[in-house]
Amino acid sequence: MTEDDQKLAAAKAAVDYIKDGMVVGLGTGSTASKMVDLVGARVKDGLDIVAVPTSEATAEQAKGLGIKVVGLDEVSVIDVTIDGTDEVDSEMRLIKGGGGAHLREKIVASLSDQMIVIAENKKMVETLGAFKLPVEVIPFAASALLPKMEALGSDPVIRQKDGKDFHTDEGNLIIDCAFGAIDDPENLAITLSTMAGVVEHGLFIDFADVVLIGTDDGVEKFGG
Ligand code: A5P
Repeated sequence: MTEDDQKLAAAKAAVDYIKDGMVVGLGTGSTASKMVDLVGARVKDGLDIVAVPTSEATAEQAKGLGIKVVGLDEVSVIDVTIDGTDEVDSEMRLIKGGGGAHLREKIVASLSDQMIVIAENKKMVETLGAFKLPVEVIPFAASALLPKMEALGSDPVIRQKDGKDFHTDEGNLIIDCAFGAIDDPENLAITLSTMAGVVEHGLFIDFADVVLIGTDDGVEKFGG
């Protein structure tokens, strides 16, 4: 099975959780995009849902597929959110934000009754941190925050795209922090959250309810 097949298998297993009448949070990234395609196909077949996308890219994709997209001002609760991840450990702690959407992803996940995480096998790790931790910061603070991120033990860089600073959907910058193994994600999450100028970091702790991992032997389920 290719990594793409594994992503698709996890996405297929996840959309089974979606039922008529639900408000569904739609994640961002290549795995979530496969899931959005599958949701679109089910909507064409008559599934009656509304969706809250976690990025402009996902909103555009969903609308193109005929999925009814709503904002947070239009819903009081999100029944289920399905999203990808960059890393997940055995305690279902995540690193997200490789696609730069973790701020909206975290807001949508925090408002959801259930968060289902979908990924290919290689995203399952023993210790978080091989993937550079994305930290969204306001542009005014970015250069001042670099030495602070370094003092925390990371090698921080401001994310670039096409030779320019990458800006998130909220107009912020991302500092990608190479920490190596993160021994105490809970503590790091608190430290980052209390730094002035940091908008949101990519550590998702106590968010995932179900993790579906595509493997060569089928989809492995954790939690739920
Ligand atoms: C978007 O900012 C991210 O949190 C993605 O959900 C994550 O990077 C996984 O993306 P892929 O499914 O493309 O690997």
